[in-house]
Amino acid sequence: MCGIVGYTGPREAYPIILKGLKRLEYRGYDSSGVALLNADLKVYKKKGKVAELEESVVGKDVHAFTGIGHTRWATHGEPSDRNAHPHRSKSGNLAMIHNGIIENYASIKQDLQKKGYEFKSDTDTEVLLNFIEDIKENNNCTTEQALRIALKRVVGAYCVLLIDKDDPETIIAARKGSPLVIGIGKGEHFLASDASPIIEYTKEVVYVNDYEIAIVKPDELILKNLGNEKQTPFIQKLDMELAAIEKGGYDHFMLKEIFDQPGSIFDCLRGRLNADAGTITMSGVENHLPSLINAQRIVMVACGTSWHAGLLAEYLFEDICRIPVEVEYASEFRYRNPVINKGDVIIAISQSGETADTLVALENAKEKGAFIFGVVNAVGSSIARMSNAGAYTHAGPEIGVASTKAFTGQLAVLAMMAFKIGYAKGTIDEKRYQHLLTELWNIPDKVAQILEDTSNIQAIAEKYKDAADFLYLGRGYNFPVALEGALKLKEISYIHAEGYPAAEMKHGPIALVDENLPVVFVATKDKYYEKIVSNVQEIKARKGKVIAVATEGDTVIPGMADDVMYVPDADEALAPLLSVIPLQLLSYYIGIAKGLDVDKPRNLAKSVTVE
Ligand code: M6R
Repeated sequence: MCGIVGYTGPREAYPIILKGLKRLEYRGYDSSGVALLNADLKVYKKKGKVAELEESVVGKDVHAFTGIGHTRWATHGEPSDRNAHPHRSKSGNLAMIHNGIIENYASIKQDLQKKGYEFKSDTDTEVLLNFIEDIKENNNCTTEQALRIALKRVVGAYCVLLIDKDDPETIIAARKGSPLVIGIGKGEHFLASDASPIIEYTKEVVYVNDYEIAIVKPDELILKNLGNEKQTPFIQKLDMELAAIEKGGYDHFMLKEIFDQPGSIFDCLRGRLNADAGTITMSGVENHLPSLINAQRIVMVACGTSWHAGLLAEYLFEDICRIPVEVEYASEFRYRNPVINKGDVIIAISQSGETADTLVALENAKEKGAFIFGVVNAVGSSIARMSNAGAYTHAGPEIGVASTKAFTGQLAVLAMMAFKIGYAKGTIDEKRYQHLLTELWNIPDKVAQILEDTSNIQAIAEKYKDAADFLYLGRGYNFPVALEGALKLKEISYIHAEGYPAAEMKHGPIALVDENLPVVFVATKDKYYEKIVSNVQEIKARKGKVIAVATEGDTVIPGMADDVMYVPDADEALAPLLSVIPLQLLSYYIGIAKGLDVDKPRNLAKSVTVE
């Protein structure tokens, strides 16, 4: 939620900030703005996407060597020019951008209003900024000291960048709960919500921790805690190439990321899975094998698409490891005082590693003694760092707001974990273990096969793009895939869609079925196949339109369905890695057919760092 960028050094700040904001637009895109510091402090901001800011700034003075920029996902106050960041303090001397939520802003605002402060926006950020200025004036202290005092009084989450007209080469940054990376160049520093705006300038970065304040000048980076004690910056090397965050010839990031999947799943398996030798090497699992084998219960904690991966993992771990599994929405888990016993293992699943609800749910569980295993895509992210152990999905940067390759990466990691634990525990025999390893190894090639020709899926998208509702149905391992297919369609095309266990539709949703309702069946060959054939019949008998994901060579489902999207055969435990691909493509092509911005769907943001 919200992307922030900062620069201080010998180059012109504006082009660097603008480019960075475009890279971070996936985090929010309802308004954007920059504050540029030279002899003067200039603030330009605009409702809408970064391109609109860029257009509005043409011809204006953007000369500056220090600056900050923001792309917003609205929390307090509607998307508008006046609510866009940066905000300026009452005196006009300070400017600030903020990612997060200040929960006690209303009471601080009231106090300031009593002192005569007037506010130009509805944001919590403007309140925090004026709170800092008020402390500065009353205590006759520096901006840095005032920020520290203010942060001790605020409740909520933040990453802020603050500049002061009287200190034109300095950016002061602070974080709690929202990410911040600082890139270290030669005589220059870059600040951003993630490494994508930084990667083309330097590979040396520092991930700022919660409750740290950074004082950033061209030649100097000072890190302190809220107690004003200096901290040693831990400099890390970025393992990311610029090409990974560019579209690479595709029209959209979402399409690129769908087509990345043969490679991204392979990257996830590479160096871990050796089907010939019958081994899975995962140090995070090996180092904690007794805790995992002897887990009394596994709790999957996640949100959105990652939650769907958790649901699939429930089927996998119960089937293969015979360990009871619960799947929890992080936003519920964090508030409902869950029972956590010794011997419970929490598997946290997150693409960004920054989702606020997941992060806090894990912190709470960790405090109660739970062992946290992180399945995370973003290297160095907060969830990755707070986990006791983990395995990265290695899907590479995912920029499209709709999660695609991160999901299949999560499934691949969770499958390897289940196979390794199940084999070590003796709940699957050698033959099944070997079979599963070979099947998993073959998945990237099978995904590539699906992607060879997508014209059939494009035609199906064109045919159904005007439907008002969709129903997605699946059984067993394909039920979470149905949920994921429905979520993708909602996000990208704004068409109402619901996912259901296929048998459950008789308990209500079947009332929706008529000749206008497309019903997508995830109906690959597995042990439920005969049952799902009956469910298809039930829909056809009520004149519903059936779109099926079916296994190549199947003749029964295609004989009944109106439209079919084929996938290669695979073991049912791994079939979701294939059956989800046509559903990702279907939602993408419907979004395109409707003329929508698939990479930046309305109201959404990639990384949900507010609760
Ligand atoms: O970064 P995370 O995996 O923790 O994010 C969780 C959800 O916000 C995310 O999966 C969201 O549902 C996606 N937009 C789905 O495409």
